[in-house]
Amino acid sequence: MSFYITTPIYYTNDVPHIGHAYTTIACDIIARYNKLLGKDVFFLTGTDEHGQKVEKAAIKLNLNPKEFVDKLSVNFINLIPFLGCEIDDFIRTTEDRHIKSSQALWKQLEKNNQIYLSNYEGWYSIRDEAYYLESELKKIDGKYFTNNGSPVEWVKEESYFFKLSEWEDKLIEYYENNQNSILPKTRYNEVLQFIKGGLKDLSISRTTFNWGVPVPNNSKHVMYVWIDALCNYLTAIGYPDINNKKYNKYWPATHIVGKDILRFHAVYWPAFLMAAGIEPPKRIFAHGWWTNEGQKISKSVGNVIDPYNIINEYGLDQIRFFLFREVPFGNDGDFSKKTIANRINADLSNNFGNLVQRISSFVIKNNNSLLKPSENLNKVDKALINLLQNKYDEYCNFMNNQQIDRAIKSVLELISAGNAYVDNQAPWLLKKTNKIRMEEVLFVITNIIIKSSIMLYPIIPTSSKKILNIFNYNIDNYKFDNFATLIKHNIKINNSEPIFPRILND
Ligand code: MSP
Repeated sequence: MSFYITTPIYYTNDVPHIGHAYTTIACDIIARYNKLLGKDVFFLTGTDEHGQKVEKAAIKLNLNPKEFVDKLSVNFINLIPFLGCEIDDFIRTTEDRHIKSSQALWKQLEKNNQIYLSNYEGWYSIRDEAYYLESELKKIDGKYFTNNGSPVEWVKEESYFFKLSEWEDKLIEYYENNQNSILPKTRYNEVLQFIKGGLKDLSISRTTFNWGVPVPNNSKHVMYVWIDALCNYLTAIGYPDINNKKYNKYWPATHIVGKDILRFHAVYWPAFLMAAGIEPPKRIFAHGWWTNEGQKISKSVGNVIDPYNIINEYGLDQIRFFLFREVPFGNDGDFSKKTIANRINADLSNNFGNLVQRISSFVIKNNNSLLKPSENLNKVDKALINLLQNKYDEYCNFMNNQQIDRAIKSVLELISAGNAYVDNQAPWLLKKTNKIRMEEVLFVITNIIIKSSIMLYPIIPTSSKKILNIFNYNIDNYKFDNFATLIKHNIKINNSEPIFPRILND
């Protein structure tokens, strides 16, 4: 089985911030989980380097756009390993392979009679790189703005149009038959409602600036940046060569996007694809937006969160964990130092870290750092192993639907039950009364620790590896298989070290 996952490609008009890091980490978690399932995973990210917004940012610095994007894309490339993410390809829309591929898609649409030349007159937001209807705008001091505050300008020019209106019924039919292809459900409903409200043909070229992919056979026009941008998902798997191995193995993709760009992915993109005779995406998942201490994150407010600062302050896995444990994936979330500290302390230090440390140090001290597989499981042990099976099933169901927060919660519930089991079985008392039983208890709980670490591995890979290393367990090339059966070999404990130091809250 194969699995293709993509982040949006990020605009190279500024340095990366926490919003970019969030989507990239989400995809990394989902990619790692799918690898544990044994799937052949392809994880793509990259940069969106064309368009008026990028051109404007370059002009402001007196640079030519290519020099500018060459510089800025490096920041996005360098951020990936810093976030603990392992990607398979990084695409830049200024690469030759991409120019070729987006022109090929255009030609295919033209060939299928989906494009015509006419005149466009209407409102355009450079910040959003999107067209708006007057009904979607508000007027402040004589100027028009979108609902999220982006200024718009009146554009009047010759333009190519894509026959989006022809795809209204087909999109509705497609989504009614594929209800899980947009998640969460509320977003699915929103998209369907939008399509049912009527689709107009879409302007897909511009003549007033040059920084874009030239329209084939009419160099007066550059492609509308979104048609070029969306096409990156095809470029990376070898389009237009649709007979190549990669393309056949990986398409259709799962796209993870912010809620602000759902319409482009769930309406325009599947329409372009169907119109070109290509299968629409397998799934589009839209996540929410982060605010900072209750405030909208914006450059003008000066509250942009730098992923480097925040990760250097709290630790990589701590931030990965916080971002996906604190807020249901799909909802908006608030970034606050107090909640980060509380979350890390409660779940990682007190619940998980404490269990790992007390068991590893106890075994080192009282059982020669070694545990033998136990054969005599009693009722209590069996109940805990049953819970492991249940929580694993829950975890997989949640992860399969990108409900990362709920998947994490299932594991944390297992860990809490593990802590309660240790408290009740009290191996420190058994040490004096029944050493055989003591070893059984330690063996069972060590299995719970190891399996919990594996389930949390996609979220906190570095820490999970550290924990697994304590118990001499190698997760490289690991695949889920008979997950809830107990380990059959001796477990040697290597060392005992604190994994999640408590955060001091001020
Ligand atoms: N270039 C387009 C995407 C093209 S995909 C074919 C774009 N780029 S972006 O750099 O502006 O945004 C990329 C992603 O960052 C979006 O998914 C957006 O939702 C996300 N975020 C930007 N700010 C964010 C927050 N404050 N919180 C969470 N995610 C946010 O759009």
